[in-house]
Amino acid sequence: MNMELLHEGKSKQIFATDNPARVIIRFKDDATAFYNIKRAKIENKGKMNCAISSLLLGYLNENGIATHFVEQTDDHSQLCRVVEHVAIEVIVRNVIAGSMAKRLGLEEGIVPENTIFDICLRDAELGDPLINDHHAVAMGIVSYEELETIYRTSAKINALLTELYRKAGITLVDFKIEFGRDEEGRMVLADELTPDTCRLWDIETGDRLDKDRFRRDLGRVREAYEEVANRLRDALK
Ligand code: TMP
Ligand code: ASP
Repeated sequence: MNMELLHEGKSKQIFATDNPARVIIRFKDDATAFYNIKRAKIENKGKMNCAISSLLLGYLNENGIATHFVEQTDDHSQLCRVVEHVAIEVIVRNVIAGSMAKRLGLEEGIVPENTIFDICLRDAELGDPLINDHHAVAMGIVSYEELETIYRTSAKINALLTELYRKAGITLVDFKIEFGRDEEGRMVLADELTPDTCRLWDIETGDRLDKDRFRRDLGRVREAYEEVANRLRDALK
């Protein structure tokens, strides 16, 4: 296949297809953290992330969440709908960890009564800064109505993924997602759902099964991604 490369990011490539409304997203083995300061290739990561993301997006599609995912096309690739990307990242937090723990001086592992929704401007040069609804609207990125849809959908996605991960013996601590507008202007989930973009802690042991193993030099990164893929396959049987 000789497809035109439309975009190459840190962990994925996007290729054109014969259908202008569809693209192929290919997952790479490359990992970066802290905005490219830390880099590595993690053997098998592309394949595992493609498998995990395809399982999860398929599961969400079946459960009434509109996503960009059409189908997995090979070991490393997905066929996806073209959407107009919205320049915010939504972070959903069920357990305090990562930047929230650091910024507010809280201990990792605290379980709050409520679910926490952060939004960040998608701008790597600025370090994807935390913003609020008014900033996003003032910058012309989204309307208040669209934000309402985004938060409502993010909460539904959280409920579905939390339940599935629980079956897999994993706590879904937090995750990052992005949205896009489809041809009809509907907000759809348009992102990967992989251990690169969420925190997953083993329910029994608290063991980290996500990219924090790479960020924090905990070792056994590849094994953790494989473990997540295997457990999700079983949980979905
Ligand atoms: P944080 O605690 O570092 O803000 O991360 C929150 C969640 O977002 C965590 O699950 C990892 C994910 N994330 C990304 O997907 N991309 C990023 O660039 C960062 C910093 C975090
Ligand atoms: N934003 C980080 C990076 O660029 C990725 C991460 O920490 O997940 O490399």
